[in-house]
Amino acid sequence: MVTTIFSSYELLSDFTANEWINVIKANPTATICVASGDSPKLACELFCEKVKEQQIDISKFFFVGLDEWVGLSPEIFGSCHNDFRKRLIQPLGLAASQYHMFDALAADLQTECSKMDAVIKSRDGIDLMIVGIGMNGHIGFNEPGVDVDLLSHVIELDETTLSVGQKYFKEKTVLQKGITLGLKHLMNSKKVFLLANGERKATVVQKAVEGKINNQFPASIMQQHKNGYILVDEAAASLLNKLS
Ligand code: F6R
Repeated sequence: MVTTIFSSYELLSDFTANEWINVIKANPTATICVASGDSPKLACELFCEKVKEQQIDISKFFFVGLDEWVGLSPEIFGSCHNDFRKRLIQPLGLAASQYHMFDALAADLQTECSKMDAVIKSRDGIDLMIVGIGMNGHIGFNEPGVDVDLLSHVIELDETTLSVGQKYFKEKTVLQKGITLGLKHLMNSKKVFLLANGERKATVVQKAVEGKINNQFPASIMQQHKNGYILVDEAAASLLNKLS
């Protein structure tokens, strides 16, 4: 794992978007999984701009949505699906055959997980994951204590996730469980970028980069990823003692 510090969130996002473009240039059929939430927002915008400016052929690229709040409709502003649609699917004009996301309204969520795992397998794995880190160290909805060997699964959300998660919604929203790719997908992914910006992420970044590798702090598993990159701005890096 490598940690890279950028002087601003804008530069971190620009770097991420350029690398994302490079992955697709090198492999036009690349499968790329992106988180929703605040951290990758600008990288998604810049990626869409660069695709247009540079006329990148994205007709064979495949997008996977990292996770979803169980029970939320894609129509709800703040749901992951809603974010993915507005940030990537619509601006890029992706065909339905070019993406897969969890249906968090499905009656049988285990089947939803199996479907996701089968899609990823059929694509020969994930080429690039672009994820964030939660205030409890989660990645996706891999909450503290998660079994690191899981592929897609449904999980009870931690108190921190339930309260911090309200920031995405216009009104108080009942949240309880999440459906998510597992840390096994993350570890199997050919490349991972974990993005974090702002002072409020300084403590979790320090634990992820320098803390003990432990499933009580899921993002610490990044230390074991052979092609994992933690991309942070100066504020989020402010508590780091050493750089890998
Ligand atoms: C969202 C997701 C979460 C977030 C994390 C950080 O799809 O998977 O793990 O990446 O909670 O959220 P932000 O980026 O909003 O600080």
